[in-house]
Amino acid sequence: MRGIEKRFPGVYALKAVNFDLVGGEVHALMGENGAGKSTLMKILSGVYQRDAGSVQVSGQNVTFDGPKAAQNAGVGIIHQELSLMNDLTVAQNVFIGREPRSFLGVIDEGLLNQRARDIFQRMNFNLDPTTETGHLTVAKQQMVEITKALSYQSKILIMDEPTAALNDAEIAELFVIIRRLKAEGVGIIYISHKMDEIKKIADRVTVMRDGEYIDTVDAAQTPLADIISMMVGREVKEETLEIPDLSESQQVLEVKGLNRGKAIRDVSFTLKKGEILGFAGLMGAGRTEVARAIFGADPIDAGEVWVNGKLCSIQSPNDAVAAGIGYLSEDRKHFGLALGMDVRANTAMATLSRFYNAFGVLDEGKMEAVAKGYIEQLGIRTPSDTQEVGLLSGGNQQKVVIAKWLLRDCDILIFDEPTRGIDVGAKAEIYKLLEALAQQGRAIIVISSELPEVMRLSHRIAVMCQGKLTGILPGGAATTQEQIMALATQ
Ligand SMILES: Nc1ncnc2c1ncn2[C@@H]1O[C@H](COP(=O)(O)OP(=O)(O)OP(=O)(O)O)[C@@H](O)[C@H]1O
Ligand SMILES: [Mg+2]
Repeated sequence: MRGIEKRFPGVYALKAVNFDLVGGEVHALMGENGAGKSTLMKILSGVYQRDAGSVQVSGQNVTFDGPKAAQNAGVGIIHQELSLMNDLTVAQNVFIGREPRSFLGVIDEGLLNQRARDIFQRMNFNLDPTTETGHLTVAKQQMVEITKALSYQSKILIMDEPTAALNDAEIAELFVIIRRLKAEGVGIIYISHKMDEIKKIADRVTVMRDGEYIDTVDAAQTPLADIISMMVGREVKEETLEIPDLSESQQVLEVKGLNRGKAIRDVSFTLKKGEILGFAGLMGAGRTEVARAIFGADPIDAGEVWVNGKLCSIQSPNDAVAAGIGYLSEDRKHFGLALGMDVRANTAMATLSRFYNAFGVLDEGKMEAVAKGYIEQLGIRTPSDTQEVGLLSGGNQQKVVIAKWLLRDCDILIFDEPTRGIDVGAKAEIYKLLEALAQQGRAIIVISSELPEVMRLSHRIAVMCQGKLTGILPGGAATTQEQIMALATQ
């Protein structure tokens, strides 16, 4: 790809970007949220049309007028947001629009399933072609997407943040698959915000910043710190955790004997004003379930939730918010945003009553000021506060949800995977914000699957395994990753 240009209304998304890929390599594409990574890949895969520049595949100049044309030329993409049809089977998804038919024109399901099985066997995938896709885990759905790409004999496979929602075991499995694809000569373009993955899987790294091409470097020979400073254009300082003395601090939350089927087994803990309590554990350990139960999103079988010394009967999220508990869900796409509305409306949505003036009219000026404040504070990349949220890059959409919850006056804030899909620089900003919130007297629970993140943030670390709280460790240097993992895998 040479000199690729792309403009959207108000956004100069790609400025003369160059990118090349050779067969059998993993080429990481790195950059902050909104740098233009997904846009460049959507151009390569025929989703968007470039304004200028040229694309060659195997030495041939190409212009793809749509995703089908790109697929037929051997360019496959697994989008940041998976795009399978949930009520179709695995094999139906793989061969959608290209189903083998009998001479009477009827879809030959047997042959369809067999063709899918052939690819599963080649790739060593443990998948059943007849399962409904909606029932699969995200990791399995990705395998379906990979199968789909391979069914087109893809020579180029683009993976846009494939590990964002995978657990460690699933990531390891994905890397095995990537190495197998490499060995077959497939060129892979790999986008991720998890810096440690770059060293594990990438051969070369191309960095973009603000829609511009910065450089392409060798992954093994370039220190991560150099890649990060190329991404953000400055050095990102790792600040260390300071654990406040909370011995005098008042207890704001006490959870006693929480139970919900097998998902939550007798979980009890306390939380103080000004405290950040991290929840570590493997995916499926029950951390999100605990958060949802406290927030009234799921019914419980037994247990008590005490807020500020009072027993609360929380039957619904409304009850929870009334009791001063806020929950930023891990599934922000479904529960967090109105994609068709603008940034301003989305930030104000959870606290709309605060924006009415004395005449009962919505004070747009106030909403604008608040939205602009957060755009500034969180570095949300958007042409204006009236941009539709659905048009922002993935990571910038996440920041909008965070802004929305920061605005709410909750004594207790539960953040579930708050930095998923967020770039390194912005992560550091969000950590600072959470610390500031704690200093202002909020009590905070942070659920994170990234151990360095839990360790960076938590004053105490609660570890869960199979629905049980297996231990609470002190935060800071007193606790090692090994100690946490030991409790997480009992
Ligand atoms: N359809 C669109 N209309 C308007 N602006 C868009 C559109 N698609 C992308 N943009 C803008 O183009 C810029 C680049 O976005 P892109 O999605 O490529 O970023 P990214 O590098 O993939 O970021 P992230 O890491 O957050 O996924 C952003 O400013 C984004 O808001
Ligand atoms: Mg993206």
